[in-house]
Amino acid sequence: MKKKLLFIIGSGLFITFVFLGSLYIFSFRLNGKNKIELPVGMEYKELGYKANIFSLSFENLVKVNGKVDSSKLGKYVITYELPFKKLLREVFVVDKEKPNIELDGDKEIVLSIGYDYQESGYKASDNYDGELTDKVEITNNIDKNKIGEYKVNYLVKDSSNNKTEVERIVKVIDNIPPVISLKGSRNITVKVNGNYEEDGYTSSDNLDGDITNKVKVSRNVDFSKFGTYSILYEVEDSSNNKTTISRTINVIENVEITYIKGILLVNKKYHLPANYNPGVNSEAYQALQRLQADGRVAGHGLPLLSGFRSYNDQKYLFNSYVAKDGEALASTYSARPGQSEHQTGLAFDVGQISDNFGNTAAGIWLKENCHKYGFIIRYLKGKESITGYKYEPWHIRYVGENVATEIYNQGVTLEEYLGVA
Ligand code: DAL
Ligand code: ZN
Repeated sequence: MKKKLLFIIGSGLFITFVFLGSLYIFSFRLNGKNKIELPVGMEYKELGYKANIFSLSFENLVKVNGKVDSSKLGKYVITYELPFKKLLREVFVVDKEKPNIELDGDKEIVLSIGYDYQESGYKASDNYDGELTDKVEITNNIDKNKIGEYKVNYLVKDSSNNKTEVERIVKVIDNIPPVISLKGSRNITVKVNGNYEEDGYTSSDNLDGDITNKVKVSRNVDFSKFGTYSILYEVEDSSNNKTTISRTINVIENVEITYIKGILLVNKKYHLPANYNPGVNSEAYQALQRLQADGRVAGHGLPLLSGFRSYNDQKYLFNSYVAKDGEALASTYSARPGQSEHQTGLAFDVGQISDNFGNTAAGIWLKENCHKYGFIIRYLKGKESITGYKYEPWHIRYVGENVATEIYNQGVTLEEYLGVA
């Protein structure tokens, strides 16, 4: 009886010992960590596990459950199960990649002082969120009225709070040159041995204000010799922007030129000297350009066919007409040298050299509107005996807006207006 009891106790102890011992030498563990981070988009690779007693593996008995969708952020759990033990692995699919910002246009831009900064555009995208352009926050410290270097900052965050910042440099500079305004005409005619008293000028700058006293004038005119000379006016602002303009001085030989009411009159009676050679008058030419531009808007092409013609140009032209039509006929439509308004630089032929031009839409528009730009139709229909030339609906003469408007309203020729008809 006592032996039997001892046997039972002994067996019990043995089984307990074997059981506890087997637990002790039993091993079930995960390869790698039980919490891992997986960058989004990267394939999940199972690292496996070990399950054995001594060298005896029973890995086949382990049931593995759980899936990782590596294209989607989140926490995934993989379970490894034996009947009496369960292990877990937590896989966190995370996005640690920063979004991307791409700037359109230059990374460094130059802005003229006073002008508004114009954003040239940008795009933002993210490996996980895709298009993020709408989420970009833009800040800048630009003071458009102050010379300096500024930054435009572009900031974007993705849904995982990864952030990207880029910047664009904006340099506000003064590249606007000063302006010189000449008083009086830019085309002055003086007789040999005459003199020209400076009509004066002013100069101003966007930043420096009035800089008239900085204007340098160089006057290289020989009043004793006929020729075309220039007076140069130069000025530089504090940002080294320079402006140069000139006034043309025509020193002419001592032949009378006729001005009446301040208007230069040239016709078969009032002539110009051969060396009167002012070139095209810039004020008249600018007015012509405005007229052509507005004519275009109204649907009329008014190409310039002939502008300034020197005495010699006119001589050649008139002689060629004489060769063709004889002098009597040529002189009804072409001026002799020294008698053409084209030599003044104030007359232009536009549109079409044709009698019918006056009946075309462009010719009618020119007739009704040219006074607004300072021009008159010089050779009117039915006034041939006064002007000396046949009707020329294409030949316009610059006399300034006020005089042109008066002449237009009165429906008279220049000769009649000046009282020399
Ligand atoms: N056709 C005009 C009259 C000129 O020759 O000046
Ligand atoms: Zn003409």
